[in-house]
Amino acid sequence: MTREKPKNLWLSRWGFILAATGSAVGLGNIWKFPYITGEYGGGAFVLMYLACILAIGIPVMMTEIAIGRRGRGSPIDAIGRVVKENNGNPLWKAVGGMAMLAGFMILCFYVVVAGWAFAYTVKMLDGSLAATSVEALGGVFEAHNAKPWQLGGWSVLVALLTLWIVAKGVQKGIENAVRWMMPGLAVMLLILVGYAFTSGGFSAGFDFLFSFDASKITGEALLAALGHAFFTLSLASGAILTYGSYLPDNQSVARTTFVVAICDTCVALLAGLAIFPIIFANGMNPGAGPGLIFMSLPLAFQQMPFGTAFGVLFFAMVSVAALTSAISMIEATVAYLNEKHGISRLKAAAGSGAVLLVISLLAMLSFNLLAGWTPLGKNFFDWLDYLTSRWMMPLGGIFIVLLAGYALRDEIMRDELNLPPLGYALWLFMVRYVSPVLILVVFLHALGWLMIDPVAQWYWIAGALVCSRCSARCCGHG
Ligand code: PHE
Repeated sequence: MTREKPKNLWLSRWGFILAATGSAVGLGNIWKFPYITGEYGGGAFVLMYLACILAIGIPVMMTEIAIGRRGRGSPIDAIGRVVKENNGNPLWKAVGGMAMLAGFMILCFYVVVAGWAFAYTVKMLDGSLAATSVEALGGVFEAHNAKPWQLGGWSVLVALLTLWIVAKGVQKGIENAVRWMMPGLAVMLLILVGYAFTSGGFSAGFDFLFSFDASKITGEALLAALGHAFFTLSLASGAILTYGSYLPDNQSVARTTFVVAICDTCVALLAGLAIFPIIFANGMNPGAGPGLIFMSLPLAFQQMPFGTAFGVLFFAMVSVAALTSAISMIEATVAYLNEKHGISRLKAAAGSGAVLLVISLLAMLSFNLLAGWTPLGKNFFDWLDYLTSRWMMPLGGIFIVLLAGYALRDEIMRDELNLPPLGYALWLFMVRYVSPVLILVVFLHALGWLMIDPVAQWYWIAGALVCSRCSARCCGHG
């Protein structure tokens, strides 16, 4: 066994779980999950997303953590070392490079969304959200975005805070922040779900989230669900792999993966359960887009006792959750510059920060001055999101599982994952056959290159098996 020596380790036994959960739980759960679920029509999307987490997200996460720990370094270095141990082709390092690029690109638009959360914490306090209708709150959101200085100011603040924390070295800050933020966020979400229960829209919201409508399964929705599984678990973006490289040898990769994935999924579902009832109770369109939570939640806070205090606390916690995710997006780049080129963390953070500020400025301007600049139908903000979530991360995911499942010697992953035989066999089966094939099918389907409709096909086969005696009558496929 030739493991690299660790350079940094998490400070406590819970360090990795706290930090990885901090990375995973963020705006993806509270902002993006509800709004894309709304756009893609609810239950069917939720089911596809959950299936992607199970069949792809969890195996990919285990693989990334194991490779990170084995190679002990930034994605490029860690993959490089593991491949070298295997006498393999150094070109695999490109997978690490693409992941780091994806993490960086995500951060460029993430700071804008995190800026919304920060701004709304203040807006809750100063009474700017006192409007009593969804339309009026929509107006507040639009007015906020129309002012480049205001929107840009908040984005820059988030970017600077992120860079400052990363420059100082992340472990201690993250572990401490996540330790109180995560339980706090869960309590706030539970309170909001409790409120949603009394809002009059709970059953409509619940049905929307959990009732399955097969006609909503389209190639585009599948790609969105797949991309979101990667986004929400911080996969193929350098984050989890780099954090994995700080994981002590004696901790179980599988156990940590499950804890992180379960926490992340619960937060997303809780956010959905809190938000959709409020949306239906107020006659709002669930497909309202990226402003969804900012237009709906303030209404709930206005109507509940101590609403202002809850609202401030809620948006403050979402802001912290966003920060603990943002940090993880750029940690890989800073770790790489620091290890490989001997640049101090401070200089590495400052250098990458300069690039970040320029690109995030373009993302921020997509909401005002550059709103009309929409090459191929998307503005700059949407392009960053689309390219990373839909293409770069799933593509990185395929390569990571191919590397672990086919290219590496069996004993490397077996040793690193340290699973009982059945668990290992299951993991291997997933990374060899299930995850890459599923990602490929979704890609081909989204590109319109698959003539058969795989989903309808499976749906049909399952239906035929379940009701083989009466399929002609009850499924209409006879
Ligand atoms: N998982 C984070 C969230 O849900 C986003 C993220 C993506 C973090 C990629 C790191 C890397 O908000």
